[in-house]
Amino acid sequence: MKSLYSLNTRLVLSHLAVSLISIILMASFAGRFIFRAALAETEHNLQGLAVAAGNALVLPIQEMNQGTGSQEHIRDLLLQLFADNPDMGFTVYTNDGRPIADNNTTLPPPATRTNAPEVIEALESGLGRGVDIRRNVGGDEKMYTAVVIQREIEVLGVLRLEVPLRPTQEAARRSFYVLLATALAITSGVGLFGWLLANNLARPIQVLTQASEDMAKGDLSVRVRPSGPQELRRLAEAFNSMASRQQTNVSELRAFVANASHELRTPLTVVKLRAEALREGALQDPEVAERFMSEIDTEVDRLVRMVNDLLDLSRMEAGMVANQRTTVNLTAIAHEVYETFSIRASKASVNLSLDVAPEISTTLGNEDQLRQVFYNLVENAIKYTPAGGQVEMLLRPGPKENTVRFLVRDTGPGIPPEHLAHVFERFYRVEAIQSRPGSSRGSGLGLAIAKSIVDSHGGEIGASSQVGNGSTFWADLPASG
Ligand SMILES: Nc1ncnc2c1ncn2[C@@H]1O[C@H](COP(=O)(O)OP(=O)(O)O)[C@@H](O)[C@H]1O
Ligand SMILES: [Mg+2]
Repeated sequence: MKSLYSLNTRLVLSHLAVSLISIILMASFAGRFIFRAALAETEHNLQGLAVAAGNALVLPIQEMNQGTGSQEHIRDLLLQLFADNPDMGFTVYTNDGRPIADNNTTLPPPATRTNAPEVIEALESGLGRGVDIRRNVGGDEKMYTAVVIQREIEVLGVLRLEVPLRPTQEAARRSFYVLLATALAITSGVGLFGWLLANNLARPIQVLTQASEDMAKGDLSVRVRPSGPQELRRLAEAFNSMASRQQTNVSELRAFVANASHELRTPLTVVKLRAEALREGALQDPEVAERFMSEIDTEVDRLVRMVNDLLDLSRMEAGMVANQRTTVNLTAIAHEVYETFSIRASKASVNLSLDVAPEISTTLGNEDQLRQVFYNLVENAIKYTPAGGQVEMLLRPGPKENTVRFLVRDTGPGIPPEHLAHVFERFYRVEAIQSRPGSSRGSGLGLAIAKSIVDSHGGEIGASSQVGNGSTFWADLPASG
């Protein structure tokens, strides 16, 4: 629907208005100019003819005055002169305004100010010529030019020529029409140009608007083909990348919800099955009852842990965690985590060691969160390293200037490269890697949480591994102080 307010209409109308106004102005000025110029030219030509013919009449008039010539002789001479100009009329007057020859057989009346003002003007103005435009007796518009016939300073008479103005006006009108047609052609060109321009602008905007409306209705697969001027192309590209991001976000969210539900369902199923079994008689057998109760207990613990992890993760990713940043002593944290795991490690016959470079420093951040990072990395290393293995904790300057690197290296099974790229994703577990018997099955959230914390501290987290040769996980944090 095209309203008067649409970009398209406005551009076309404004182009047309500008060109129409120019045409009207041009036509009125140029029209007047063309007619005036045509008249001036006719007058000039006629006067030239009159002067030339007047010169030729000097002798015949003198002869007539001396009685040797005649009026007929003068008339014949002029008829002969203008033989190939049938429209041209002539009249010869004496110097007191009496007619003596005319192209018509009957002579006109003597010249007066009313019937032949040009003749009087030629005789009296001192310039020796006169012009007038008027309708003749037949009603045709004519131009009259009179020049005096002169021998030295003696005025012998006046020659007056007359031509109909119609051919002149016709020619002028033709020129004017040509001009007008050209101008109209230009206007249409301008209008067409405006229309094309408007389309070039409005089409991409319409396309973008349509796409935005589709997206607002929930269709995230819409994309637009960038077209039109540069600015609109950029807008289209921005729209496309926004749509892609939105689509990715939504599908990530869907995957997350599916994963989370799946993860929660497993322990819930166990709890449900055990509770049913207890009600249907297992309570009678205290040994079985005890086992089922402790299984329920473990699963509920897992559920609580997982829900807490999920909550932490989503809070962190929503940027909702109050960021009380303090100076955190990473050396102290490394020692604490080392203490926490040393008993667990020795129970599992894993040799846990800690090595802190003396200059190692502090970072600005949230202490609990950073402890969680160290904890999660060490926990994994111990969990996935078989008895007799080694887990090293290292704290030293990072590879980039002003960074601290916390590194955990183990002698576990290693992670195949196709999985290594994904271990920081939520719920990602490498099924092929068995954790040590006795350790509980993880939620797959530990590394995701660690990554989210490190990211929010402006750091980087990464891992390298070779199957059969253990894994190395590291977190680089900006150093402070
Ligand atoms: N040190 C490690 N050695 C081998 N595999 C590991 C190691 N750390 C993590 N992984 C793999 O990465 C997965 C994701 O780790 P994580 O996010 O901590 O989840 P979880 O420990 O709960 O399974 C683990 O399930 C495991 O398959
Ligand atoms: Mg873990």
